[in-house]
Amino acid sequence: MKNFITFEGGECTGKTSIINYIAQKFDEKKIEYITTREPGGIRIAEDIRKIILDVNNTEMTPECEALLYAASRMQHLKQKVIPRLEEGKIVLCDRFLDSSLAYQGYARGLGIDAILKANAFALDYLPDITILIDIKPEIALARLNNKDRESKKDRLDSEGIEFHNKVYEGYHKLIDMYKDRYIVLDGNKPLHILQEECLNIVLKHIEI
Ligand code: TMP
Repeated sequence: MKNFITFEGGECTGKTSIINYIAQKFDEKKIEYITTREPGGIRIAEDIRKIILDVNNTEMTPECEALLYAASRMQHLKQKVIPRLEEGKIVLCDRFLDSSLAYQGYARGLGIDAILKANAFALDYLPDITILIDIKPEIALARLNNKDRESKKDRLDSEGIEFHNKVYEGYHKLIDMYKDRYIVLDGNKPLHILQEECLNIVLKHIEI
């Protein structure tokens, strides 16, 4: 999947600001691209996102959560990601399968293999590169002041620090599993440095 580039990491790692920065530079350079996100990016997947992240859905089982992420992923892949790649555009995607492996597979304890099976349809479309913004959750989450934290909180943000530490560990397992496509960046660096590093990595990898 040349030109399919995904960004991963825990909460508040700066992924969205990094993607927006690359988009701005691509505009200046007249490079054709789209930005998108998981879960979401299209109407059906955004609707599924609302169900998954709704704080009122306390009874949702880990299995249901995993399958909803997988369902939104397939719709998003087929309806948006694959067509844009076929048109020759670069796709910059905020999260993908690796989020399910780290969050549902590892942190929720469903197991990496179960998540790979649930996402079998997506395995033919693995990204060309995956940039992981690597920063310990207690440091990343401390960036949010209390007011922001309350307004941002969705069902997954509301999980305790132990859950977010497990997500962090999960990503570290994935780095070993997918050495060929993973690029790990130190998320402790200032945002403007990370933005520039990511831009250079992406420019080096894409085919235009
Ligand atoms: P976001 O905050 O980066 O937009 O992502 C929404 C939340 O969904 C975030 O807490 C990570 C979580 N997530 C999973 O647990 N599994 C997945 O497969 C994806 C794509 C996101």
